[in-house]
Amino acid sequence: MAQKLWQKDKGVDSLIETFTVGKDREMDIYLAPWDVLGSMAHTTMLESIQLIPSDELPVLKNALKEIYKQTIEGQFNIEEGVEDVHSQVELLLTRALGDIGKKIHSGRSRNDQVLLDLKLYTRDAIRRVTLESNTLVNLLLELSEKHKNDLLPGYTHLQLAMPSSFGLWFGAYAESLIDDMEMLLAAYRISNRNPLGSAAGYGSSFPLNRQMTTDLLGFERMNYNVVYAQMGRGKTERNVASALASVAYSLGKLSMDVCLYMNQNFGFLSFPDELTTGSSIMPHKKNPDVFELIRARCNRMQALPNDVAMITANLPSGYHRDLQLIKEIFVPAFEELISCLQIARYMLEQVQVKKDLLRDEKYKYLFTVEVVNQLVNEGMPFRDAYKEVGMQVEKGTFKAPSEIHHTHEGSLGNLMSAEIRNARDKVLAGFEFNRVEQAIERLLQ
Ligand code: ARG
Repeated sequence: MAQKLWQKDKGVDSLIETFTVGKDREMDIYLAPWDVLGSMAHTTMLESIQLIPSDELPVLKNALKEIYKQTIEGQFNIEEGVEDVHSQVELLLTRALGDIGKKIHSGRSRNDQVLLDLKLYTRDAIRRVTLESNTLVNLLLELSEKHKNDLLPGYTHLQLAMPSSFGLWFGAYAESLIDDMEMLLAAYRISNRNPLGSAAGYGSSFPLNRQMTTDLLGFERMNYNVVYAQMGRGKTERNVASALASVAYSLGKLSMDVCLYMNQNFGFLSFPDELTTGSSIMPHKKNPDVFELIRARCNRMQALPNDVAMITANLPSGYHRDLQLIKEIFVPAFEELISCLQIARYMLEQVQVKKDLLRDEKYKYLFTVEVVNQLVNEGMPFRDAYKEVGMQVEKGTFKAPSEIHHTHEGSLGNLMSAEIRNARDKVLAGFEFNRVEQAIERLLQ
């Protein structure tokens, strides 16, 4: 029976240990570098309020830096019999430094440690999702401009409606992802608040300097109220999950469009053979498996906010072990979404767009409104023009015009790419990634 941080004299039944530890040893590996950084900030703060002697601070910081290096280089693991990352870090520290290592847990609890780890992990993971989304936005905007004159059928009810363009289609998903980045920004700001010092959820009788750890870790501000800081476990994950689901929504819809447009009856776009997959029986197949899997993964991600909500349903304030389970669905979601964003980009970098699609006779009725509008421009009241063109369609005499003129903002003749880029730049600037990066660098010096 292994030694626990909280163990005094009696041991724990091994079945109970296995059940309660669950997947924590795997999940906590992702939190490890953040746990160590949190300990560096906490230790520095403890020295400032004389809970750690000044000469011991550099010793502790050096040992923590060593452990940090291990976590970054993939050398860190949680040993058999050790419950979680918090216990493992403390164990490594006491192994290296003896009694000095035993001092750093003053004024904190694993409850605010895991809260802190999750905030720091999430803050960084949102940064990665945001940058990946932004890279895709850039590509979509490039494609939008490159194909601004390539027309595409626009549908309502999945029936031919009006002329659209690849310029509009690519640009639409760029703008959609920019709105999602705004959701990510809100989630980022909620994550960028320091819960450390809430300890078990009710603060501490030590005169902790919470502003100091807030600054050391580069947080925008602290979660002021210690009870609320603890309530942030679960609530933060849910807010963040909503932002991830928002990105997934855009990406899933884009993938569905691609699957449809690759279909032979549509035939709007294609990919080089090596990016499609074959069939074991039908020799002609070139399937869109990549976009089908993105679609399914993104659809599954729509459930994440609800899954988090269900784990935390009806929990009163204060810490509960239930919260541990959120890590298993929350932490892997980031890599999942990032891999979808990356592969979507890889595919779209090589997309081939069919030219002159709308020259085909079968698309001629896409232009009825153009002709109606031409008649209106010539002075006919709209309803009369509508009837006139309707009769041409009925009699089979309707002829599509050879040119169309759309000029207003956001239409196929005026994509407003510069404005869309500006909107993106504004959202991106709101993150202030540099501030955090500098704080972490300083802490590691
Ligand atoms: N593995 C735990 C979690 O993720 C860490 C906190 C444990 N705290 C406790 N009071 N048992 O929630």
